[in-house]
Amino acid sequence: MFQAPKGTRDIVPPESHRWQRLVAVFAEVVGRAGYGLVQSPMFEDIGVFQRLGEGTEVVRKEMYDFFDKGDRHLALRPEGTASVVRAYNQHRPTVPWKVWYLTPCFRYEEPQAGRFRQHHQVGVEAIGSADPDLDVEVIALQHDFYRALGLSRLSLRLNSMGGPGDRQAYAERLGGWLGRRLGDLDEADRANADAYPLRVLDSKRERTVAVVADAPLITDHLSDDAAAHFARVQAGLAALGIACEIAPRLVRGLDYYTHSTWEFAAGALASAQNAVGGGGRYDGLAESLGGKPAPGVGFGAGIERILLAADAEGALGGASGSVAVFVVDVTGGDAGRDLTFELRRNGISADRAFDARSMKAQMKVADRSGAQLALLVGEEELATGIVTARHLRSGGGQTALARDDVVREVAALLADR
Ligand code: HAM
Repeated sequence: MFQAPKGTRDIVPPESHRWQRLVAVFAEVVGRAGYGLVQSPMFEDIGVFQRLGEGTEVVRKEMYDFFDKGDRHLALRPEGTASVVRAYNQHRPTVPWKVWYLTPCFRYEEPQAGRFRQHHQVGVEAIGSADPDLDVEVIALQHDFYRALGLSRLSLRLNSMGGPGDRQAYAERLGGWLGRRLGDLDEADRANADAYPLRVLDSKRERTVAVVADAPLITDHLSDDAAAHFARVQAGLAALGIACEIAPRLVRGLDYYTHSTWEFAAGALASAQNAVGGGGRYDGLAESLGGKPAPGVGFGAGIERILLAADAEGALGGASGSVAVFVVDVTGGDAGRDLTFELRRNGISADRAFDARSMKAQMKVADRSGAQLALLVGEEELATGIVTARHLRSGGGQTALARDDVVREVAALLADR
C-alpha cells in the first residue's frame, strides 16, 4: 500500500476545518488592508529560485528540481516570494502591488516535528514602494493575523540588513572577522566563513554560536539612510503597540533581504522549529530577476507551525465542518433525498445517510455528524405530511414540522438554539 512521501502529510477533516478557518482569518485580515489574492504556477524556471541565493541551503541542497519533457530545467517553489516578484515583472501592475497567497512550498529537508518537505504558507508581498511605513504595515498585518487566530505567546525579532551596499560591506567585514577565528568555529561552518559569511550567523552549532556572539553587528554599520529607515519602522511598530526585540544577528535563510528582516517565534514551540513566520524587504529582487528595479516587502507564515502553536495555546478550537441538519429517512430514500436538497438549495447545510440503513444506524451517523437537528421521515410522517425534527444537542426533545413549510420552520428552529 502506498503512503504519502516522506516529509509530507495529508490534511484531512477535521484538521482541514482548522486550515480553512486559518485561511479565512488570514484572507479577512489582509483583505481589509487591500491585498488581493495571487495564484501563480507551482513550478518555475529554476533560475527564478536561484536568485534566493547561491549560498542558501534552500538553493544548494533543498530544491526539488527536474527537467521536463521539453528539457526545461524547472523547480517546485521552495517559497512564495520569488514567483510573486517574477509575476510582478511580467505583468507590470500599478504600484504598490499588494497581494496575498496560500501556497505549498517544497524543500528537501530532514523531516521532524514542524519541519516538512512540503509545508504550506500564507503570505503577503507589497511591491513598488520603498516607504518604511509599508514595512510597518506588513509586520503589523502579520501580528494582527496571529492575534485574530487567538495566539498570544509570540515574540517578534527585528533586524535591518541595510541597503544592498551595507549588506555587501558587512558580509566582507564579517568574512574577514570569521577568517581570523576559523579554528574556533564548528568544522561544518568553516567552509561558509569565506564564501557565505552571513550563513555562519544562522548556525545553530554550539561552537559557532559561541564565536559569533562577539561578531561585528550589522546594525552598527548601517548607512544613514538605512538607519533612518530602520528607526522609522521601529517607531511605527511602537505606535501600533507591537513589541519587538532588536536582533542584530537575525539574517534569515534567504539572501534577497535588504533593510527590515524579522521573524515571529512561538513561545509554545521547541526553539529549532519555533518560527511561525518571517519576512523582510527585498529591494534588489525584481531587478535580479530581470525586471526594472522595484522595492518590495512581505512575509510568509507556516500553516503547520501556526497550528502547532495554536494547539499548545488552546487557540483555534471549535473550527468544525458540521452541517446544521441531518436527514434520516426510513421510507426508501426518495423523501430524504429530496428534502436534503431542498434544504441545501435554500441555504441550510444538510447531510443524510446512504445505503438504506436502519433507523438506529442512521441516528448514530446523525449523532456523529455534529448536526444540531435530525429530520426524521418515516411512513407516518409521509402519510401525514410532516417531518419530525429531533434536537441532537442542547437537551433533546422533538417537534413536528409541516413538510410544506419545512425550510422556514427548520431555519426558525436553528435560529432559536
Ligand atoms: P522562510 O522563513 O523560509 O521565509 O519561511 C517562512 C515560514 O515558513 C517559516 O517561518 C516557517 O513558519 C515556515 N516554514 C519554512 N520551512 C518550513 C518547513 N520545512 N516545514 C514547515 N514550515 C516551514 C520565506 O519563505 C520567505 N518567502 C518569506 C518572505 C515573504 N519574505 C518576504 N516575503
